[in-house]
Amino acid sequence: MTQIDVPTTTPVEVRRPSLDGPFIKEDTEARTFRVHRSALRSPEVFALEQERIWGRTWLYLGHESEIPNPNDFVVRTLGGRPLIFCRDADGGVRVYYNSCPHRGTTLCRETEGNNRFFRCFYHAWTFNTSGELVSLPGADGYPDGDDFRERLTLRTVAKVESLRGFVFVNFDPDAGPLADHLGNAADYIELVADHNATGMEVIPGTQRYKVWGNWKLAVENAMDGYHFTPTHITFVDYLKRTGYTTSDEGGKNQRLDNGHSVLLLTGHSGRAGMQWEPRFGEAERIRIEENRVELEERLGVERAARVADVSRILYVFPNLILFDIEALSIRRLEPTAADRTEVDAWELAPLGEPEEARALRNRVLVSFIGPGGLATPDDIEAYEAIQRGIVATAGDQRLGHDWNDISRGMVDDDKPGPGRSIDEGGIRHFWRKWNDAISERES
Ligand code: FES
Ligand SMILES: [Fe+2]
Repeated sequence: MTQIDVPTTTPVEVRRPSLDGPFIKEDTEARTFRVHRSALRSPEVFALEQERIWGRTWLYLGHESEIPNPNDFVVRTLGGRPLIFCRDADGGVRVYYNSCPHRGTTLCRETEGNNRFFRCFYHAWTFNTSGELVSLPGADGYPDGDDFRERLTLRTVAKVESLRGFVFVNFDPDAGPLADHLGNAADYIELVADHNATGMEVIPGTQRYKVWGNWKLAVENAMDGYHFTPTHITFVDYLKRTGYTTSDEGGKNQRLDNGHSVLLLTGHSGRAGMQWEPRFGEAERIRIEENRVELEERLGVERAARVADVSRILYVFPNLILFDIEALSIRRLEPTAADRTEVDAWELAPLGEPEEARALRNRVLVSFIGPGGLATPDDIEAYEAIQRGIVATAGDQRLGHDWNDISRGMVDDDKPGPGRSIDEGGIRHFWRKWNDAISERES
């Protein structure tokens, strides 16, 4: 038998983490940052996340424009909990658990619509959009009086708040206000809301897909400018062929409060309604010029420049990614298992946009960040390839084997300003927040 030499590996202290961690191993002197791969594949970690992150943190639910009229509703699942997001008859925004107060049946079985009542199919208890039990068959079997009906209203989630139409919920009754959670990420949401004087709307329809990968891989990917040119080479070549050169030069990653962060990209490519490039055509050039005048009058020159000239990818911990690049897209992550994530994406657009501009916006969106575009399938391939790859080292206790390296550009972590978008500072920032959230001990 011939002995084959196995090369020695990176000399870092490694121990397989228990559920108490540590899942991240950071050495500020050596400028290394490693994440244990079990964080991306362990069902126990997934269960802990459901409790400590999805059960306690503000979560993006939807945009108010998705339910514009009284009695409009959509159903959504957040943190594994089915919800009804609706307007009551007076136009107020309501969020209910989609669970009949009688014996728990999923109450609303359509995905969206307009209806004054939700009628449970099992025993036909019927509720209005204010959550009141308005009728039930065989009411004589229950005590007289209103008490009974009052106790059996639709169950609401603990907290609902919105910022400029973006609605968030929190399942924890003791949670602090949304503003505290968003911190300085709120300004970046407002920059998107500022695109248009009369407001923004979600274009009807959801782009929905399932990924065989852990949700945190989608977060890493969104904050990872390093992969853009190698992974999206087809898109980069296409831009070059159509007369536009994209560049990673000058791109920044700004770490924000509470694990949120934003990529700020100046050399990315054209932006519908904001930054012209040849593939947009002449009519769009004129519209963009007019739009700039309106933006500067409304917001001032400086804020107008922030809105119009800088492409941004904003990550709001834990489940929202807001793309303000070639076009606007709201992407929401819903983990369903350690290795599975459901992604919903909605296109956001200015209310009252002319038909021709809207058509161009749609084309631009689907060409890159749409689910069949020149970016998203590449990115999904990356998440799934990682998920397949990281099982290779599972259980290997040798030094460094079962850890991912996220050290790129760590020298910038000490500096107050933004780092380079092609470094991994935003990814480390996310992981530190994730580690804090997951490590929190029960009180
Ligand atoms: S479970 Fe809904 S009416 Fe009985
Ligand atoms: Fe990508």
